[in-house]
Amino acid sequence: MTKIRIRKAERLKGNIAIQGSKNTVLPIMAATLLSSGVSVIYNCPAIEDVSVMCQLLECLNVKTQMQDNTLWIDTTRAEYAPLPAELTTKLRSSVLLLGPMLARWQRVELGLPGGCAIGLRPIDIHLQGFLKMNIDIRVVEDKVLGKSYYLQGGVIQLRFPSVGATENLIMTAVAAKGRTILRGAAKEPEIIELCNYLISMGALIEGVGTDTLLIKGTKELTSSDYCNVYDRIVAGTYLLMASAIPSEIRLTGIDDIHYIKNVINVTARLGVNVIRRDNALLISSMGQVQGGEFRTGIYPEFPTDLLPVLITVLAQAKTYSRIEETIFENRFSIVRELNKLGATCEVDDGIVRTGGEVELKGTTLCATDLRQGAALVVAGMLSDGTTLVTNIEYIQRGYEDIVRDLQRIGVQAEYV
Ligand code: EPZ
Repeated sequence: MTKIRIRKAERLKGNIAIQGSKNTVLPIMAATLLSSGVSVIYNCPAIEDVSVMCQLLECLNVKTQMQDNTLWIDTTRAEYAPLPAELTTKLRSSVLLLGPMLARWQRVELGLPGGCAIGLRPIDIHLQGFLKMNIDIRVVEDKVLGKSYYLQGGVIQLRFPSVGATENLIMTAVAAKGRTILRGAAKEPEIIELCNYLISMGALIEGVGTDTLLIKGTKELTSSDYCNVYDRIVAGTYLLMASAIPSEIRLTGIDDIHYIKNVINVTARLGVNVIRRDNALLISSMGQVQGGEFRTGIYPEFPTDLLPVLITVLAQAKTYSRIEETIFENRFSIVRELNKLGATCEVDDGIVRTGGEVELKGTTLCATDLRQGAALVVAGMLSDGTTLVTNIEYIQRGYEDIVRDLQRIGVQAEYV
C-alpha cells in the first residue's frame, strides 16, 4: 500500500503512545560497533531507516534481530567490509558508521550517504574533524575512503554545530589515543543520549549537554543496553496538529519533557494547552490557530524537522505568519503541495509567508521527503473532503504507523 487517504478531522480525542526516537537510535546502533558483544535496544521504532541500518551492520557480519520494538545487535564476529553505495544512499545516517568503523578497524570505505532531499547536506565538517584525529580521509567519486595508523585525539572546532558530525567525532574520540576537545558541538537531545550511552559502555566524556566536550579515549569499551527515548519530532507533529483542530488528546511515553519544551512553547503561542501528568502530555485546544512570527534553529530553538507541519497549521490561520528556516536551504517542498489545496504560501530567501482566510480543499498530494510527507497527512486532516497522499514510503522511513496513531484519536485515515 503506497497511499494514505484522509478525511477532514472535526475533532481529535484519544491517546497516542509515542514511538521511540529515530534520530537517537540510529547513532546508537552505529555505536554498538565500538565493542564486541551483544547490545539490546528497547523501544526501537519499527521503521524503514532502522531496517536499512540493520542491513548495513549485517554487511559487517553483525547479527541483528528485531522483535516487538526490541532490537538485539551482536557485534562479536564483526568483520571489516566496504559498505556499498546501493545501501548507504538509502539513508543519511549511514555516514555515522564512519567513526565507529575507523575506531574498530582504522579504515573505512563507505558509499556517500543519502537522506531526504532538503538541501545540499555536505559532510565536510565530519571530514575536517577526522583529519584532526590523524585520519587520512577523503571523498573519491561516490565513496568516502579513510585510514589511520592510530587514532589520535585532537582539538576540534566545528564551524557549525552539525548533529551528525558531532556524533561521528564523539564516537571516534572515545576510542582514540589521548584527549579530544570538541568545541562548537551540537547539543541536541540525540547527542546527550548518545554520550550517556557511550558512558554506559565505559567512555570518558565530560561536558555532556554543552557545546564543549572533553573526551578521553579508552580501549576498554564494553557492550551496553539502551532504552530509547520517545521521538520528539513525532510527538511534536501531533502537538502541532492539535493547534488546528479542536482537541483533547493524551500523548504517552514522554519520559523527558525537556526535550520537547521548545515545541510546547511554540504550540502554547498557537493556542494549545499542555499539562504534564507522569510521563504523559494532556493536550487540549480550541483549534483556532493564531498566526505570528516563527523561526527554526539549532537546539533548543524550534526544530527544523517540524517546519513543514508548522507551515501547514499556519496556512489556514486567520492571520498571517512569517516562518524562517535557518538550517536547510531547500526545505520548502511543502509549500507547493499546500497551495494545491488552496493555501496561499509564498517562499522567498528561506522565509515562508502564509495565512489569511483560506478554505483548504482535499486533493492528491505527493510526499517527497519524510517530514513533508507527515505534514501532508496533517494537511489532509485540515482540508474539506478527502485527501490522498502518495509516495508514503518517505513517511514510513520515520513514522512507525502514522495511520494507526491518527485512528487512535478518531481521524478517518487509511492505507490504500
Ligand atoms: C540531523 O541531520 C537529523 N538527522 C535531521 O533530521 C535534522 O534535520 C538535522 O540533524 C538538524 O537538526 C538525523 O539525526 C539522522 P546536520 P544531520 O549535520 O546530522 C550543514 C529527519 O527528518 N552541514 O546538523 O545530517 C547541513 O547541510 C532528519 O529526521 C554542513 O554544511 O544534520 C545543514 O545545513 C532530516 N557540513 C546543517 O549543517 C557538514 O559536514 C545541519 O546539518 C554537515 C552538515
